[in-house]
Amino acid sequence: MRAVITGTGRFIPEKKLSNHDIEKMLDTNDEWITTRTGIKERRILEKNRGTSFMAVKAAEMTLEKAGVSADEIDLIILSTVTPDMTIPSAAAIVQKELEASNCWGFDLNGGCTGFVYALVCASQFIESGRHKKVLVIGADKMSSILDYKNRNTCVLFGDGAGAVLLEASETDDTGIEDFELHLDGSGSEFLKVPAGGSLLPASNETVEKGLHYVYQDGKSVFKRAVRDMAKVSASILEKNGLSGEDIHMLIPHQANIRIIDAVSKKLNLTHEQVFININKYGNTTSATIPIAISEAFEQNRLKPGDRILMSAFGAGFTWGSLLLKWTI
Ligand code: UT7
Repeated sequence: MRAVITGTGRFIPEKKLSNHDIEKMLDTNDEWITTRTGIKERRILEKNRGTSFMAVKAAEMTLEKAGVSADEIDLIILSTVTPDMTIPSAAAIVQKELEASNCWGFDLNGGCTGFVYALVCASQFIESGRHKKVLVIGADKMSSILDYKNRNTCVLFGDGAGAVLLEASETDDTGIEDFELHLDGSGSEFLKVPAGGSLLPASNETVEKGLHYVYQDGKSVFKRAVRDMAKVSASILEKNGLSGEDIHMLIPHQANIRIIDAVSKKLNLTHEQVFININKYGNTTSATIPIAISEAFEQNRLKPGDRILMSAFGAGFTWGSLLLKWTI
């Protein structure tokens, strides 16, 4: 028995923030952002709404597409680095809004690899037979932790949510085939939100110093992302006796088009084999991969039997790949 994706959904906030809009706020320009990152615009959630709002919308779409009711869900795993608040978990708020009355659940912080981490966790509960239906959500309101006066970071990220429903397969030749995950905390200094946790709780000083915003040493993260996403992807293919041509589609974390291109090149993938939507949404952290899955499925680019490779890299450092055969 394997864990298979039986439903997908997403939520994209309506409000667009284009490169041209940002040009008016900061010393940057469309040409720099487009050539250095591949991003043209990103979406911004309303100020008075939190991550759970988007997670609920993505979950509702997923359940509706799968024809499953909320009270059939056994477990909700919500990958996010921007929960509505520290306590309770955003998963708890999602459970309440969905009226998913027979489940348990939790938030998971795996940085930009969080959705892959969450999918792997969920698959273990399905494969063990303990749970029948697990909702896996990736959602982030990055606009809530960005300094819109800092061109190094604010141009890169956006808000959004995506979700999948995982259930058990009837046969062994479909669903999640393998995964490889990593964590290297020596990378923690390169991408972080320094304050607001137990080490540096909120104070006038932390606010004045802007320590509640994302800090990133872009160059260091970039180098490791290219190296490790390519390495982990090649490793999982090799372990499974596969090469680039066996992959129907690579669904990569969308942080920078140059990272995606470098990884694709190392795996000898053609343009058609790689799903890209970074131009529309920027880096939505936990949400990039589930939004991409949902869009690819809706565009009829995923058919039963297609082999999909997911790959991500993010804060921690975290990184990993997951191999699956599409089922629905
Ligand atoms: O998803 C989590 C993981 N995160 C990532 O994977 C992100 C990885 N990093 C990156 O994507 C890239 O490093 C960035 C897009 C963040 C930056 O690109 P880069 O090619 O590494 O540029 P840089 O940071 O080396 O900056 C080059 C120049 C600098 O100017 P000087 O020092 O050469 O005069 C920056 O100040 O570009 C400048 N710059 C900008 N210029 C216009 C940085 N940001 C901007 C901007 N507009 N928005």
